[in-house]
Amino acid sequence: PSLSEILNLHDFEAIARMVMPEKAWAYYSSAAEDEITNRENHVAYHRIWWRPRILRDVTHVDWSTKILGHASKMPLYITATALGKLGHPDGELNLTKAAAKHGIIQMIPTLASCAFDELVDAAQPGQVQFLQLYVNQDREITKKFVQHAEKRGIKALFITVDAPQLGRREKDMRQKFEAEDPAEVTANKQEGKVDRMQGAARAISSFIDPSLDWKDIPWFQSITKMPLILKGVQCWEDALQAYDAGLAGVVLSNHGGRQLDFSRSGVEVLAEVVREVGARRSLSFPNDKFQLFVDGGVRRANDVLKAVALGATAVGVGRPFLYAFSSYGFEGVDHALNILTDEFEMNMRLIGARSLKEIVPEMVDASSLKSH
Ligand code: FNR
Repeated sequence: PSLSEILNLHDFEAIARMVMPEKAWAYYSSAAEDEITNRENHVAYHRIWWRPRILRDVTHVDWSTKILGHASKMPLYITATALGKLGHPDGELNLTKAAAKHGIIQMIPTLASCAFDELVDAAQPGQVQFLQLYVNQDREITKKFVQHAEKRGIKALFITVDAPQLGRREKDMRQKFEAEDPAEVTANKQEGKVDRMQGAARAISSFIDPSLDWKDIPWFQSITKMPLILKGVQCWEDALQAYDAGLAGVVLSNHGGRQLDFSRSGVEVLAEVVREVGARRSLSFPNDKFQLFVDGGVRRANDVLKAVALGATAVGVGRPFLYAFSSYGFEGVDHALNILTDEFEMNMRLIGARSLKEIVPEMVDASSLKSH
């Protein structure tokens, strides 16, 4: 189908299913065990309903914001997803270019298929990029990588904390990871022991350090001045501990359902974190000091705005952009972001909010969220 026939982000998934090589589809789409969390991620948004306001002049609506102090045209960023070249020869470069064109932020993954410096070099002057970090068992490798990233102008470090071991992604495990895979570069770079017989995820992840602990946080704070954010927090207790440790924020995420099955969706956890951390530290969300991010299952601007109403600063989107470039390259991601732009404009008008500040908690009925 031509791009003009693609009307929403779900459409990209359906096309990708048809055109992507089986192995790449298996890696991108797979989730842990029975994939219950993966399904729940999106379905959780179905439990949140709008209480729109009327008769407000909505001629001009503006959904731009700041993420960790950096301008973003949308309360949305491109989250880190590994192995972009499994889906398209330009891999993550498609995302770098689309992020530049649309004024949004890309989080570069540790396990990008493109070289880290290639992705930084491809950025436009002033374009903001974040980095997702998998912590290596060899901390010297991690230290060098982090300090290099900071020197190259990366503005924030998102440390993934939900993957001390890879989840069982059985769709992916049934595939063999070939020596000639373009993604191989990455596996070698991090010097893991590569097991080729059980899918892409296992092949590339053996370097990740399961001993990572709260007591390592001061070490990260000593090696970099970048703001540190924990990616993969799933309850208010850990969000509170992150705040008390002096971190800049947390991503309420279950890794797109790819790690612990039966983790709750990020937006479900959001309601709980806003209430419990807010009460204990007299914080209201969003704020500039400690920012809450959510990812998983976001497929519409409508979803994004619900998370904003509940207190998120911004939301991460993963698979839809992978499916978009796997099917249509850069133009696919560009089109996905055009669709989201249209959706933001329409939804802002229909809920009666001229700016994100006007999207207050009273604008949603989230009483069906168990954690609310
Ligand atoms: C991911 N995700 C991820 N997260 C991370 O911290 N490091 C990584 O290398 C990856 N790699 C990765 C690959 C693929 C193919 C997917 C789908 C996801 C998780 C990602 O950052 C994010 O948490 C989810 O993708 C969000 O869910 P949606 O938007 O894909 O539903």
